[in-house]
Amino acid sequence: MEPSAASSQRWYRRLAPLYDLGCRPLYARARRAGREALRLQGGETVLDLCTGTGLNLPGLAAAVGTAGCVVGLDFSPAMLQRAERRRRNCPAPVELMRFDARSLDEESWYARVPRRPDAILCSFGLAVAPDWEEVFARSWDLLAPGGRYAIVDTQPIPRGWGRVANPLLVPFSNWAGHAEIRRPTARVLAALPDFEQRHFLGGFVHLSAATRV
Ligand SMILES: C[S@@+](CC[C@H](N)C(=O)[O-])C[C@H]1O[C@@H](n2cnc3c(N)ncnc32)[C@H](O)[C@@H]1O
Repeated sequence: MEPSAASSQRWYRRLAPLYDLGCRPLYARARRAGREALRLQGGETVLDLCTGTGLNLPGLAAAVGTAGCVVGLDFSPAMLQRAERRRRNCPAPVELMRFDARSLDEESWYARVPRRPDAILCSFGLAVAPDWEEVFARSWDLLAPGGRYAIVDTQPIPRGWGRVANPLLVPFSNWAGHAEIRRPTARVLAALPDFEQRHFLGGFVHLSAATRV
């Protein structure tokens, strides 16, 4: 069943105090690879879409430096409260935006940030977000030409012996993350320029990245 926005916010309000305990160590490598796939330069503006507790913020801030800007967007106040603590120790300007990504457009973006994002990272957001294709399309439209978009997300294990775990792994992950990990988030960038893909945790996590021309 597709999660609704209201039930997602309720779930993440309860999960927020525990989120970093499991999700920080488990996904650290994939998260770092997602950041590196953006090929960030000093002075750039980067959007961390569905930022959650802001686990990506310090690394993104270090990559864009003091002349750059990181925007962490999420619609869960409880998750953003944790991101706010992380923001204070970041080595670059970080703006937190409480906003529903389904409504993201130029007007809402420019009301807060003076230039388009040069890069977008969405880690573990598209399998969770209601209307995820709309969320992806709107954020893609916002990306500056030449900019990189990286998706890091969970999926059923696609090949090999690990697939025997899927009948347990898929329902457990969907429950734990209030997600639908069977969404084809690994394929949305596949036909786009400069596509790259890597897998982690036996294929349970993919990193997919491409460039907007
Ligand atoms: C699994 S967490 C991922 C957090 C973080 N990106 C990470 O890598 O740990 C998913 C986040 O997506 C947010 N989210 C889901 N749908 C959203 C939407 N439509 N707009 C903004 N945030 C959304 C949730 O509130 C939650 O914080």
